[in-house]
Amino acid sequence: MSWSDLGGWWLEEIAGDPAYETVVTPLLLEILAPESSGVYLDLGCGEGRVMRAVIESGSRVIGLDLNHHLARLTTPSLVGRLPTIPIADSMVDGAYAVLVLEHLADIDELFAETARVVRSGGVMAVVMNHPMWTAPGSMPVTDGEGEPLWRPGAYMDPGSSAVDAADSQVVFHHRSLADLLTLAAGAGWALEHMIERTHQDTVEVPEVPRLLGCRWRLLP
Ligand SMILES: C[S@@+](CC[C@H](N)C(=O)[O-])C[C@H]1O[C@@H](n2cnc3c(N)ncnc32)[C@H](O)[C@@H]1O
Repeated sequence: MSWSDLGGWWLEEIAGDPAYETVVTPLLLEILAPESSGVYLDLGCGEGRVMRAVIESGSRVIGLDLNHHLARLTTPSLVGRLPTIPIADSMVDGAYAVLVLEHLADIDELFAETARVVRSGGVMAVVMNHPMWTAPGSMPVTDGEGEPLWRPGAYMDPGSSAVDAADSQVVFHHRSLADLLTLAAGAGWALEHMIERTHQDTVEVPEVPRLLGCRWRLLP
């Protein structure tokens, strides 16, 4: 079982999660700063919640998701499996992905594919679980006096971990911040803006970043 079977589980997850309205979608809008005349790709669009918010800002958006049950809930959308993006070169002004990069094993190829389909000077934006959070073994611990602290786990090394979802598991791939930015740079993406955001509903240690937002611009 994989994301192609987890559409029902994901719909239940986001239906009950107020963080989409209060944290996730605002972070994407802030980091993407969509242009009203722009055409964007939403990579791993799910049922389209974020996509609708970007469209409301005046942009045009095409969704892409491997789960055809989710993809058909929003329009226009394509069914396809990242890192491959089934559109022609330089077709869009930008691409973005929300809570998707950490589920992809090959983001090297994703950065290359987005650099192919986005026009020169266009943008790529991501909102993702912060690498501090995805490192295998990272978790809150308490010291002898009950103060919550953060255990970094295997932060420095690429790795993966799985969490239970429905009758299956969702895999989170971990890369350090340095690895993530170096991979993007290797495909021609210049970092323009980065935001690290805490989210105190889910991280007991106030200074540990929960979400990461990045915007890159494609070098000519
Ligand atoms: C955590 S959900 C996020 C959905 C959406 N971006 C949102 O924020 O509401 C991850 C999404 O990525 C999609 N996905 C996972 N791996 C994918 C792949 N290799 N190609 C395309 N979509 C994928 C899943 O089907 C799912 O819709």
